[in-house]
Amino acid sequence: MANLNSYLHLIILCTTSIACFSLSPSQSDDSVSHSASSFFIFGDSTVDSGNNNYIDTIPENRADYKPYGQNGFFEAPTGRFSDGRVIVDFIAEYANLPLIPPFLQPSADHTKGVNFASGGAGVLPETNQGLVIDLGTQVKNFEEVRKGLGEKVGEERAKEIIEEAVYFISIGSNDYMGGYLGNPDMQQRFTPEQYVGMVIGNLTQTVQSLYEKGGRKFGFLSLAPLGCLPALRALNPEEGKCLEAASALALAHNNAFSSVLASLQLALPGFVYSNSNFYHWLHARILNPTTYGFTEGEKACCGSGPYGGIFSCGGTKKTTEYSLCDNVNDHVWWDSFHPTEMIHHQFALAMWNDTPPSVVPFNLRHLFTSTNIKRTIADVVDLPQEDPLLHRFEL
Ligand SMILES: *[C@@H]1O[C@H](CO)[C@@H](O)[C@H](O)[C@H]1NC(C)=O
Repeated sequence: MANLNSYLHLIILCTTSIACFSLSPSQSDDSVSHSASSFFIFGDSTVDSGNNNYIDTIPENRADYKPYGQNGFFEAPTGRFSDGRVIVDFIAEYANLPLIPPFLQPSADHTKGVNFASGGAGVLPETNQGLVIDLGTQVKNFEEVRKGLGEKVGEERAKEIIEEAVYFISIGSNDYMGGYLGNPDMQQRFTPEQYVGMVIGNLTQTVQSLYEKGGRKFGFLSLAPLGCLPALRALNPEEGKCLEAASALALAHNNAFSSVLASLQLALPGFVYSNSNFYHWLHARILNPTTYGFTEGEKACCGSGPYGGIFSCGGTKKTTEYSLCDNVNDHVWWDSFHPTEMIHHQFALAMWNDTPPSVVPFNLRHLFTSTNIKRTIADVVDLPQEDPLLHRFEL
């Protein structure tokens, strides 16, 4: 009877929520005996943990000098574009994982995951070409890790690790800022709609490619209101306002990608995802910083010129003079393009814990703690002797 009850319970959950896969009691025992999911990270400076320290690039694409990382969590600057940690560091912590090493860090342990991200990178290979590790190359690097894993732990176990891992992707801002708005040639060749379509098309292909390689669980950080980044606000001839053209591209991208993800979920068996609404979340903090524990939502803590919008933090770039605020935790923005650790921390918590419509359809906690999707469905189907549909109608 107890079995039947829990089975009926499961059916009710399944009819009301696609989250049913992980809710069967036998599944939770199962998940305890498994090690935590690995964590593979792709993207740009929002999540780079130091890959660009190892490539030949310009100071704008690096953050391995002071005052980056000044808050003391790390002993020295690591290459993170923040005063301390970035969002994936917090997520790794919540998932009981160690800090995930950059792919290019020599002799790093790849068994709990790898960070492939590169500051300045875009979805399109044309974006900052030659100065970054573009998304296509990041996926090639993942392929290398996947092969190495097979050699190390055996093909069978490697396949399990790949299937249970969470793939986090945060990229696209550079395609719209430098790649399009800062690139008259691109603007001449493509309308904003066509360009968004191209970025979305390539991003979709990347997700499909990771799925074909065995990835099933995907997390996405959507694009920020790009026109409100201090660097872009400072460029606006309408003084004090966010640069509308940039924010509009980000919104169009986010809307298009939300639809793509909903379709992929229908088209790809076992594909599960967590998408966030970073745009509105961050915009609320920019407009009303004091409501959320900040005092400054517009000006960068580190930089120069109006709104700290001149990208000079660290003094290694074109403009060598810069100022640094006293209380970084009061600020939404760390430098001209990047938010503070406090923002990364708060948003990591939201992605981990929130419920729809803040994160859809799942939060990251669910992705990390649910077990192998395929096996779980098989278990649910195997569980009863009777036809499950019959029971559903009897209820
Ligand atoms: C991917 O981007 C390239 C430009 O780099 C473009 O020519 C191509 O059409 C895009 N692919 C898709 C599927 O949109």
